[in-house]
Amino acid sequence: MAKTTANTERTEVSEAQIAVHWKEEAYYQPSEKFKAQANMRDAHILEKFGVDKFPDCFKEYADMLTWFEPYRTVLDTSDAPFWKWFVGGKINASYNCVDRHLAKHASKAAFIFVPEPEDQPPVAIKYQELYARVNELAALLRGLGLKTGDRVTFHMPMVPELPITMLACARLGIVHSQVFGGFSGQACGSRIQDSGSRVLVTMDGYWRNGSLIDHKANADIAVRTAKDLGQAVDKVLVWQRYPGTYSAKTPMVPGRDFFMNDLLKEYTGRTVEPVALPSEGALFLMYSSGTTGKPKGAQHSIAGYLSYVTATSRWILDIHPEDVYWCMADIGWITGHSYIVYGPLANAATSVLYEGVPTFPDAGRPWRIAERLGVNIFHTAPTAIRMLRKLGPQEPRKYKYRFKSMTTVGEPIEPEAWRWYYDEVGKREAVITDTWWLTETGGFLGVTVPAIHPMKPGSCGPGAPGIHPVIYDETGAEVPKGSGKAGNICIRNPWPGIMQTLWGDRDRYVKTYFSKYNRNPSSKDWRDWPFMCGDGAVQAADGYYRILGRIDDVINVAGHRLGTKEIESACLTVPEVAEAAVVPVADEVKGRVPEVYIAIKPGVQPSQDIIDRVIRANEEVIGKIARPKHVYIVPDMPKTRSGKIMRRVLASISNRRDVGDVTTLANPDVVEQIRTLVQGKDVIATKDELPEDIAKFGQAE
Ligand code: WTA
Repeated sequence: MAKTTANTERTEVSEAQIAVHWKEEAYYQPSEKFKAQANMRDAHILEKFGVDKFPDCFKEYADMLTWFEPYRTVLDTSDAPFWKWFVGGKINASYNCVDRHLAKHASKAAFIFVPEPEDQPPVAIKYQELYARVNELAALLRGLGLKTGDRVTFHMPMVPELPITMLACARLGIVHSQVFGGFSGQACGSRIQDSGSRVLVTMDGYWRNGSLIDHKANADIAVRTAKDLGQAVDKVLVWQRYPGTYSAKTPMVPGRDFFMNDLLKEYTGRTVEPVALPSEGALFLMYSSGTTGKPKGAQHSIAGYLSYVTATSRWILDIHPEDVYWCMADIGWITGHSYIVYGPLANAATSVLYEGVPTFPDAGRPWRIAERLGVNIFHTAPTAIRMLRKLGPQEPRKYKYRFKSMTTVGEPIEPEAWRWYYDEVGKREAVITDTWWLTETGGFLGVTVPAIHPMKPGSCGPGAPGIHPVIYDETGAEVPKGSGKAGNICIRNPWPGIMQTLWGDRDRYVKTYFSKYNRNPSSKDWRDWPFMCGDGAVQAADGYYRILGRIDDVINVAGHRLGTKEIESACLTVPEVAEAAVVPVADEVKGRVPEVYIAIKPGVQPSQDIIDRVIRANEEVIGKIARPKHVYIVPDMPKTRSGKIMRRVLASISNRRDVGDVTTLANPDVVEQIRTLVQGKDVIATKDELPEDIAKFGQAE
């Protein structure tokens, strides 16, 4: 936790920053046409989900699901803060996403898969076919001896086989843990180990930026890494990107590796009854980065999670069964789980699944896909918006798609990018909802209800229905709205979508999310357990929140959380490196990117080769998204007298800011040496305050 002195500074910084840079944005109103068709039109919805109606207001969410047995208790707080929702009920997520739609929607597309190569046509998977494929696969998984409660790790690209495998697991209560396909084999291996999976599901290859990548190679590394960490993987189940053909060069390992399509032959036409599982059973794990080097596995429940993503998909994304909805995120992240697969499918939506890069082969690709498929709800991240704007500001005008609703997620969006999204992509017709939330929260926390609340560029809006945010300062006092002060945003109450725990680490769950503001560790009253989100935020006088970014040494690269400690330990795998420090640098497209400073061991000559190997180490240990923008070899790290590396000083240098007073450091001279190395001889620093998340960097220990 941050120390008080450091935090006094932090608050001053944020106040100054807000005073200088923040101006109130004008509201934008949803169109009458949008309002008339919206799923949620009740102007009093937030009052209906007021704190005084908690927790019973969430019964309405549970009612959106089909239950095998009704629940008895809405919220059980007896093991606070490990909340249990809809206790006593029996339910199945696969049934709710697939089977229950067959009566009405059997011949409607559940997914439309768009391969990256543009000459390969989109493939529609109807609900009837989805049902058949999920069942056959569930039969296969059962045939392999997998059962309720087992964990299975996936390292899959964006192909229909990914949601099919997720839903097959969900049918049996097998807990899936999908690792983002762009993560390295090593990163996958350490997550296999943490979750205790004995089975890895992968694919031989997939298209990315014009090449067919050999992805099977990563499976071999993952299995080896897991084994080194003490976890044996018995089986690697390999989907083929082109069934019947092997698209990778890496050999299959006899007895361990099996082609899914071969195994499936035995199960053609088989069906498996969806298992009636307890509400509070685990549906999946999703790993995310935090302050320490070890990623944490957020464990999500079946009924609470599914009800939450179903309701928010209906009311906030405004998905109707007749809509064509496209979320351009990757299923390897929580956004894809909640808002490509589970939420949309529970609403019988048609969900578009695109394999590749949005700008391949050019920046018109997303708009061509939207036009061709008749997409009318579009969901993406600020990074993609910035990139598409940079490469093709006029491209959307060339295409005849029409969006009624658009969403952004993952990072703060600056008002300028917001306006391009609104004017050009949305053609001034579509509403925009800026959705703020986290892996741990399952679904949206801060959003506008699109037909009811006006939009305000750069702000996510008030709390979602039934979500009651509060901003606390370091002492635990509430920061009032309209004060212009920043603080730690927390949620006062539990909600059905919140994770159940961190896999295998109850203590870390309590410590990370609750300890700081918990008033009484033995309390069973939810009011004593505000959930700390890990973001800094300010609340304007109108109640809208503006999110300032992570406060826990996590760098949000293109909307993806990367832990500083993970990057630093990757750097330290290069034997010549004695010390490593990573800092975030503002980037016009990706929001933030990591920049690395290393000190090398005595007697070693600095060289480009060391720099190259540090870059490679990051790609191998984490993945290409962790590739540092620069690696600087420095004579020494700036340190306090107690030996702590001052990352904030390095962050100032990297971001071309004044380093401030460094005379109290143990080695103040080194600061100027590093500054010259990075910025050159001339002083090019500005006096502008650093953005909040960068300014407080390195204070979270
Ligand atoms: C950031 C992604 C501003 C925030 C769903 C959060 C946002 C972290 C927004 C979680 C938004 C997400 N505006 N910041 N609309 N959405 N963030 O776990 O810092 O990958 O804590 O979940 O992304 O990232 P995660």
